[in-house]
Amino acid sequence: MDKQNRKAIIAGNWKMNKTPTEAGFLLDDLIPQVEYANCEVVCCVPATDLAVAIAKCAGTNVHVGAQNVHFEKAGAYTGEISADMLADLGVEYVVVGHSERRQYFAETDETVNKRAKAALAAGLKPIICVGESLAQREQGVTEELVRMQVKIALGGVSAEQLKNVVIAYEPVWAIGTGRTATADQAQEVCAAIRKVVGELYGEDAARGLTVQYGGSMNAENAAELLAKPDVDGGLIGGASLKADQFAVIVDAATKG
Ligand code: 13P
Repeated sequence: MDKQNRKAIIAGNWKMNKTPTEAGFLLDDLIPQVEYANCEVVCCVPATDLAVAIAKCAGTNVHVGAQNVHFEKAGAYTGEISADMLADLGVEYVVVGHSERRQYFAETDETVNKRAKAALAAGLKPIICVGESLAQREQGVTEELVRMQVKIALGGVSAEQLKNVVIAYEPVWAIGTGRTATADQAQEVCAAIRKVVGELYGEDAARGLTVQYGGSMNAENAAELLAKPDVDGGLIGGASLKADQFAVIVDAATKG
């Protein structure tokens, strides 16, 4: 299975933006602009926006995702949200291990693995984020680091479950900085991710895996990034908050 046969997924990560009221307006604006997309369109919204997003996206081609999930099934974890709670609400995707969570909320490769497994067990599709810092890139350890992040994140994930996994390569230095990885840099690391997944699960499984790039992807640079053979989609922060910009990226994936 090559790029044309893989599922291209353009996912917006709204991060901590948009009240439920604002979310409704943004989706009203976005939904008609992407209704003919040939790729999968996902909006990963704050927990407080999930209900309104699910109501607005019902019967449309826009899928709803959360931005985090707890790894325990239930219990005394004040403030946390379980995978079953998300699934019951109608959530389909969940971002796991975003670098902002690794940086600010003590996420580790081990907790990323636990969250990914909890999400999969509940029938959710985790979008597992990996990527290096600027210092790590300058030290020349990008590939080793990303390989390790992928291997640990997928520990205990079955080949069947892998079909529901998306991996997003998000270099930390490119997130929210306006400094995008070049298309060649994105391709190189996305290919390395596919290679390590191939080592773990075999070539066929690796060829079917959707690998996204994220980090300052926008309406101007999306087409070049998405044209690369191992870049199957994007995880978009800032540009996902503007319906018309996000729609241009969706259109670029459709063509890619
Ligand atoms: P930006 O597109 O704002 O750089 O954010 C990327 C990101 O972190 C998506 O998860």
